[in-house]
Amino acid sequence: MNKTDTQDWEAACPADSLREGEPRGLKLKGIPIALYKVEGCVYATHDECTHAYALLSDGFIDGHTIECTLHGAMYDVRDGKCLAFASCDVKTYPVQVQDGMVKVLLSPAGSDDRNGNADGDGDGNSHR
Ligand code: FES
Repeated sequence: MNKTDTQDWEAACPADSLREGEPRGLKLKGIPIALYKVEGCVYATHDECTHAYALLSDGFIDGHTIECTLHGAMYDVRDGKCLAFASCDVKTYPVQVQDGMVKVLLSPAGSDDRNGNADGDGDGNSHR
């Protein structure tokens, strides 16, 4: 059995409610999460910019890059890598779409899988 089969996936929202180019912010178990739909795939990151307090879901997305509205930090939503301005990457979470619902796997306490490699390929996204 895959390790992720026994973990809890948190239902986030209906998949068809997400729009390309429109990040969505929400809280799952009290954790601020930003969802992005890019080229038909859904990605999830922590919603807080690592530079200071601003919500990435309020930012601008261009391709796989989310730009923070406050000072312009940029991150790749696939792996959370910081591309500009901030010095720290943003956490990503594995995503799956099941029965039309977007589900996010919140890392268990103590996990060092900061880039959410649920499917083992290291990109943490929801391959169809
Ligand atoms: S708070 Fe996001 S770039 Fe400063």
